[in-house]
Amino acid sequence: MERTLVIIKPDGLQRNLVGQIISRFERKGLKMVGMKMMKISDLKIEEHYGKYKDKPFFKGLKNFMQSAPVIAIVLEGLEAIEAARFITGSTKAREADAGTIRGDFAMGLQTNLVHVSDPKEDPEAEIKRFFGAEDLLDYDKIDFRYLYSSDELG
Ligand code: CDP
Ligand code: MG
Repeated sequence: MERTLVIIKPDGLQRNLVGQIISRFERKGLKMVGMKMMKISDLKIEEHYGKYKDKPFFKGLKNFMQSAPVIAIVLEGLEAIEAARFITGSTKAREADAGTIRGDFAMGLQTNLVHVSDPKEDPEAEIKRFFGAEDLLDYDKIDFRYLYSSDELG
């Protein structure tokens, strides 16, 4: 089963939306296998957004991501990477589809509440950036037998 990384950004915490954001992923049926509240270090932010280091928005993004703690969550499910992206919505929140987290709760381009792994950017490596193997918990989620058919579960 696939795993993906979500980070609730500082605006999620400051705007009291942490519970509602987690609830969106929960009700979709994504299983939480790891969760951590932290301040992101210079090193980690530079790794995480490394491909944007030379972009004009990088400095502001780095300041924003370090302006308050974030909550990192590892989610598991069938095709969880795409599923988490679908319900997050597009980057510029004011243009994101209604029904998505960004579409329903945010207006910003930088302040768009959540990071979700991109399949092109190695979600496993993103998870390893923030979680050790011992931080990821293995357990049976009893609703999986209703979320998926036995054919899908294999
Ligand atoms: O987060 P997502 O994958 O949707 O977007 P991205 O293009 O990978 O950009 C990463 C993050 O950088 C965004 O979520 C924004 O917070 C920020 N960003 C920005 O501040 N200004 C931009 N012009 C583009 C992105
Ligand atoms: Mg991205």
